[in-house]
Amino acid sequence: MSTTSIHSGLEVLFSREQIRHRVLEMGRQIDRDYAGEKIVLVGVLKGAAIFLADLARSISVDNTFDFVAVTSYGKGARSSGAVKLIKDLDQSIEGKNVIIVEDILDTGLTLGFLCSLFEQHQPKTLRIAALLDKPSRRVEKIDADYVGFTIPNQFVIGYGMDFAERYRNLPDICLMPPDAPELSAG
Ligand code: IMP
Repeated sequence: MSTTSIHSGLEVLFSREQIRHRVLEMGRQIDRDYAGEKIVLVGVLKGAAIFLADLARSISVDNTFDFVAVTSYGKGARSSGAVKLIKDLDQSIEGKNVIIVEDILDTGLTLGFLCSLFEQHQPKTLRIAALLDKPSRRVEKIDADYVGFTIPNQFVIGYGMDFAERYRNLPDICLMPPDAPELSAG
C-alpha cells in the first residue's frame, strides 16, 4: 500500500495507477463471466459514478447503464443505519443480467436493501461489483462478487467517494485524516 503524500498532505491509500490496473482486471473478469451475454450496470449514486465510468470502459460485453440513489450516510462520516431509495431504476431489469456497481461495501445495509429490492423485479442474474470492501464493518451478511480492494476500518475519500460531498474528484483513493480541521468542518 502506497503512503505517498499528495493532495495537500492527504495520504494515498490506492493510487490512480493501482486503481486503473485493478478496475481493468475486474472488467476482464466480468467479460469472462458474461461472455456472449448482455448486462445492465446499475451504479449507486453518487459515490460509484467514477468507478462505473471506468469499469464500463474496461468491459467489452454488451452493456447498458442505469443509476439508483439511496440515502445512507447523510452529510457526515457516520451511517444513520436507515436506507431509503431516492432515485429508482429508469429501465426494467426483469430477465436481465444485473451488476450493481457500488463504491464501498461497508455495513452492507445499502446493498442488502438494493438486492432485496431488485430481486423483486426478477432479474436473470444479480451480482455486485464493489470497488472497496470493509468486511470488518459488516452488519448485514452481504458479499460482493467482484471486489477491487479489501480495506480495514478506515474512512476514505476520492475517486468518487466523499466526505460531506467533498473530495469526490480526487484521482486517488485517500485516507481521511480524523483530526483534519478542514475535513471535519464539512
Ligand atoms: P453501507 O450501507 O454501510 O455498506 O454503506 C455503503 C455506503 O456508505 C457507500 O456507498 C458510501 O457511500 C458510504 N461509505 C462507507 N464507507 C465510506 C468511506 O470510507 N468513505 C466514503 N463513503 C463511505
